[in-house]
Amino acid sequence: MKLLKKISFQTRQAINSTDLKFIRVYRWSPSHQEKPYFSVYPVDQKSCGPMVLDALIKIKDEQDSCIAFRRSCREGICGSCSMNINGINTLACLHPLKTNFNTITIYPLPHMYILKDLVPDLSNFYAQYKYIKPWLINRTQQKKEHLQSEKDRAELNGIYECILCACCSASCPSYWWNNDKYLGPAILLQAYRWLADSRDADTGNRLQLLKGKSKLFKCHTIMNCSRTCPKSLNPGKAIASIKHNINNK
Ligand code: SF4
Ligand code: F3S
Ligand code: FES
Repeated sequence: MKLLKKISFQTRQAINSTDLKFIRVYRWSPSHQEKPYFSVYPVDQKSCGPMVLDALIKIKDEQDSCIAFRRSCREGICGSCSMNINGINTLACLHPLKTNFNTITIYPLPHMYILKDLVPDLSNFYAQYKYIKPWLINRTQQKKEHLQSEKDRAELNGIYECILCACCSASCPSYWWNNDKYLGPAILLQAYRWLADSRDADTGNRLQLLKGKSKLFKCHTIMNCSRTCPKSLNPGKAIASIKHNINNK
């Protein structure tokens, strides 16, 4: 009853109707001496936008301003609203609220340290991104644009679209257990993005960074990464291409 007092008039009207969804959200705050718990919020779909992110924003506006989650573009572009929704790592802004389930359960991305509620600590992920030198390296003193043929440019399709949401890395068992050593599918897809770029001239050094037992070869082709990617990319295939490059060098 305490919770119901706080919710909007439309939500109260929608209770018992098929338009009502219950959003069950993982909660944890470093400032409270409490174990993690769930908060459940009723949301009237008729007065809410179509996606899970819309429901979270509505909850934050109308029911609980303390709930923490990341978001920016609400268009599947920035990669910040990644979370685990009903067991799938995905983007809240691309995941429809309308599903067969009355209750939608939301966890943060799995096997990550949590800063608060649905906000994982991505420091290690970004340090790994920096490690692969995610920029064009071409030491020719060319003062004009580095041009590409249409064919060379097409090689980047299916790679450049990665928005670094980390859904794939957080779905990979090898990354769960070895994320201090293994780079994980998101970062390896990014590494491949520069290896595949005809304008980049640092292939040898880039492959050198990935050699050894852990950084790349801890991928055991489990393929959760490619199944979960909300942008329908295939990091598993990119990793296989890098392994092929290294093994044939
Ligand atoms: Fe996200 Fe897909 Fe990029 Fe992985 S490959 S970080 S799931 S967009
Ligand atoms: Fe992991 Fe994908 Fe390899 S799930 S083991 S990175 S194919
Ligand atoms: Fe930017 Fe979801 S808010 S990808």
